[in-house]
Amino acid sequence: MRVMVIGSGGREHALTYAVAKSPRVDEVLCVPGNAGTASIGQNIEVKAADPDGLAVLARQRGVDLTIVGPEAPLCAGIVDRFEAEGLRVFGPSKAAARIEGDKAYAKRLMKLAHVPTAEGRVFERYKNARDYVATRDTGVVVKAAGLAAGKGVSVCEDPADGLLALERIMVDRVFGDAGDTVVVEELLKGQELSVFALVEGCTIYVLETVQDHKPIGDGDTGPNTGGMGAYSPAPIATPDMMAVVERDILVPIVDAMRNDDAPYHGLLYVGLMLTAAGPKVLEFNCRFGDPETQPILMRLQSDLIDLLEAVVDGRLADAEVHWSPRPAVCVVMASEGYPGKYESGKVIEGLDHVAAMKDVYVFHAGTRRIENVTVTSGGRVLGVTALGDDIADAKRRAYEAVEAIHFQNAYYRRDIADKAIPTDG
Ligand code: AMP
Ligand code: GLY
Repeated sequence: MRVMVIGSGGREHALTYAVAKSPRVDEVLCVPGNAGTASIGQNIEVKAADPDGLAVLARQRGVDLTIVGPEAPLCAGIVDRFEAEGLRVFGPSKAAARIEGDKAYAKRLMKLAHVPTAEGRVFERYKNARDYVATRDTGVVVKAAGLAAGKGVSVCEDPADGLLALERIMVDRVFGDAGDTVVVEELLKGQELSVFALVEGCTIYVLETVQDHKPIGDGDTGPNTGGMGAYSPAPIATPDMMAVVERDILVPIVDAMRNDDAPYHGLLYVGLMLTAAGPKVLEFNCRFGDPETQPILMRLQSDLIDLLEAVVDGRLADAEVHWSPRPAVCVVMASEGYPGKYESGKVIEGLDHVAAMKDVYVFHAGTRRIENVTVTSGGRVLGVTALGDDIADAKRRAYEAVEAIHFQNAYYRRDIADKAIPTDG
């Protein structure tokens, strides 16, 4: 069969890598892809934000299944568009993707379904939001309700910074319409956990556990990024905790969406804060996470196509899934300056050497090929991922590979997975 993967990041390289392993797949089209996907499938330059162009492409090329990586095309309704034309596609409808695309909607639904989340309020008027934040004497989190390319959230220890964030969103309109509505919520403390669940109607299958590293600096310092590294499994996510997450969060939200005429089909990502009072939802995403997908899919032993098709065809309840017991660690190599300004076009060296390393795989994110050279083209450049006998071994292998790769101004965290590695004494 012919599969199309939409998107150009590390997540999409990981999806392409896993899909291409299926004996049922003859060809993978990556739209637009990156230098990594080009080594597995065929890259095609159509903008991921153009559902019409993508539908035409799927039809012309006889695509049997399309997998949508990023949130933007999902929230724009690509799945509805494809389904209306009888094209098979993995991902939620536009109505269901609102769970990520509209944080005010997500908050309302969580309240309705009694899903544990940060205490929060939704505002459409700047004055009301400002008056509310002005009364707070503890930290606040200010969120543009719409899609803001992962930049719409300000975590403010000092409420005065919350006022500045509000002004930027609602007065300066730095995120445009995405900031017409804001969510202001309490600042939660704890470790974060990413939960991935395949959802089809009432059926929920929770994937292996995984933890991301959002801040740019070692020891979780500095501004938040899209994610600087991830590992799976996450020992903090005990089976008891995951049972609570499924019972108190996944089941009620999936039910609430069905009752709201927005039944969920696809991958539902729950971003959790593990607080002293139990897991609380920070956000829902309507897609696989990046970079969490990279270590998760390194551990998946079953055929990813079978699994995704089980969702598309309504057979998820019968799916059998096998995982490698070996942990995986992914270290993101970024361009110095990210998540702020950075330079691109730096030549990447050492990839051939690392390709020969056992149990290591380098997922490309911001890369492209110019003639025979691979160069950087984004903030997050590579997700260097390794399987190991235990998490410390996986970390060691991942960093060994990281150290063998060079580009000018490469930056990476040195402490990925340390939270999961037991210390003596
Ligand atoms: P979101 O897109 O809503 O998940 O927010 C992005 C990041 O901001 C999260 O991964 C957290 O690191 C942080 N964050 C969001 N909401 C809160 C909160 N209520 N308390 C503390 N941190 C938060
Ligand atoms: N790694 C966080 C995300 O994908 O949203």
